[in-house]
Amino acid sequence: MHVLVVDDDVVSAEFLANTLIHFGYEVTVASNGREAFHLVRSGKYSMVISDWEMPEMNGPELCRQIRCRQWSGYIFFILITSYGAGHVVEGLKAGADDFLTKPFQPNELRVRLRTGERILSLQSRDVMLFTLAKLAESRDTDTGLHLERIREYCRILSEELSTWDKYRDLIDGDYVQLMYLTSPLHDIGKVGIPDSVLLKPGPLTKEEFEVMKRHVTIGGETLAAATKAHPDAKFLSMARDIAFTHHERYDGTGYPFGLQGKQIPLCGRLTALSDVYDALRSQRVYKPKFSHEKARQIILDGVGTQFDPDVVEAFLRREDDVVRIAESLDGSAADSNAQAEAAATSPEPVLV
Ligand SMILES: [Fe+2]
Ligand SMILES: [Fe+2]
Repeated sequence: MHVLVVDDDVVSAEFLANTLIHFGYEVTVASNGREAFHLVRSGKYSMVISDWEMPEMNGPELCRQIRCRQWSGYIFFILITSYGAGHVVEGLKAGADDFLTKPFQPNELRVRLRTGERILSLQSRDVMLFTLAKLAESRDTDTGLHLERIREYCRILSEELSTWDKYRDLIDGDYVQLMYLTSPLHDIGKVGIPDSVLLKPGPLTKEEFEVMKRHVTIGGETLAAATKAHPDAKFLSMARDIAFTHHERYDGTGYPFGLQGKQIPLCGRLTALSDVYDALRSQRVYKPKFSHEKARQIILDGVGTQFDPDVVEAFLRREDDVVRIAESLDGSAADSNAQAEAAATSPEPVLV
């Protein structure tokens, strides 16, 4: 990893650079913020360690300038300060990720760098997961911003339930984040569905629908294999559960397992409502785009049969947020039958 060290003090810049080289990093030194900003534009640096006080452009200003722009990847920014806690707030406002206080111990520096590396690798993981979901979805002609919306709905609904006493032990901030991250993978198994079924411009026959239904086991089994290889990766086990169970129904008449009620993992129950609501609010070749009111009524008709009553209650309590997402992320591309299988589980016959 290439680290950019920014310090006008030649002695401390050299000490820092040598320590970093000793840790195995590649290092470039800049003597002020302006020079550093110019170097950052090369795209070579994902980590910047900058002194606070410098001529021309100081550390916080450099950080602000970096945060103002879009880069190809995240840039982890560590500010060096000798001013103590008062400056931390100013540094955070400028967008710094971490701080080092002068004089620092090499071991402390090492720990901070590890934190930075971890955050950078998590970011690439998140981007790759979404890219993978988008890639799988791209076979379904144009489904617009379905994945972008579904992860927002899942975030809103899980966030709402996390405030309820009975869900407090089950849902924390990490769970909400994982829902956001993994719900776009719900239909990843569609990569295994033949074009003749996936791209059919109209309702599916009974046999074709059976083929379409296989996407849940294809996706679930693929993610189960990945979970086996990486049992500690929570995001993989949640993605597996979502892929397997987002077409289960609360009354046990869904597929593939016919699970009932709380047997269906919560993440699957949350994704089921989000997915159907989005299908209802989107235009399909076989149905127009429904208004929120109509979609809401269809969901209410499915309380306790198709949907978990708690998830529906969360949906009603956060209705305004849901509508705001539907409107702000309205891809409004005319979709194909990509969501036919999702809509097919809806109680309304017009959907198929
Ligand atoms: Fe699906
Ligand atoms: Fe979907």
